[in-house]
Amino acid sequence: MNEAITPLIIGNWKMNGKIKQLGEIVELDIILNDMNTDKCHVVICPPTTLLISAAQLNENSKIAFGGQDCHVEQSGAHTGDISAEMLKDAGAQYVIVGHSERRADCGESDEIVQGKVEAAFRADITPIICIGESENERKQGRALEVVLEQLDKSIPTDIKDIIVAYEPVWAIGTGLVPSINDINEMHNAIRVALIKRFGVNGEKTPILYGGSMKPNNAKEMLELNNVNGGLVGGASLKASDFIQIIEACQ
Ligand code: PGA
Repeated sequence: MNEAITPLIIGNWKMNGKIKQLGEIVELDIILNDMNTDKCHVVICPPTTLLISAAQLNENSKIAFGGQDCHVEQSGAHTGDISAEMLKDAGAQYVIVGHSERRADCGESDEIVQGKVEAAFRADITPIICIGESENERKQGRALEVVLEQLDKSIPTDIKDIIVAYEPVWAIGTGLVPSINDINEMHNAIRVALIKRFGVNGEKTPILYGGSMKPNNAKEMLELNNVNGGLVGGASLKASDFIQIIEACQ
């Protein structure tokens, strides 16, 4: 844990949750109200169908909200897409970009991801930029090379506030996690690259770990100097699990 960066615990609900699921946010809010949460920012990225309701329901709460993706354009003929401006209008302060599921399912390249980061800046919301190697790339000993290249190409030259999320693809939703040494090595390398490119801004950029972060392994990860929070999928869907990861930050 690096005292100079307030850690973020961000829940990525993915394509999960109907209206009933908002009850988990209400429950989380009640628990957070009784907790000293100065040590950690809590964000939930629900599906877009729930974003407005979640944000309105929790207007004065300690939970902030984010989208899971945005289009590069502000508006126009892009059926089914949502712009960063629309997310902001719906109550989002953050947006996940370049998640590996979108890179794989929708063929998103680093260049497209970079355009989405710029769209987030334009709308004045903070992009959470996901990078991570595949199982094969790690087996071939190319994890560092691949991740640093994604980092380089997914981030524009001029940055505002950004968050980087290192998510090894093979750890997402599998229950597998890299060793603590591997997480440490990767996060330190990302920090060095960020500082080299962005100076002071690179020093204060939060670097989150994501991929099967759970109540039973979060603490050990969050204790590392360059792990400044978590991007949590499955374990963010139930307030009772998610709160234990938030507590691991305290
Ligand atoms: P997981 O997902 O925690 O379910 O592995 C993380 C993510 O994809 O952001």
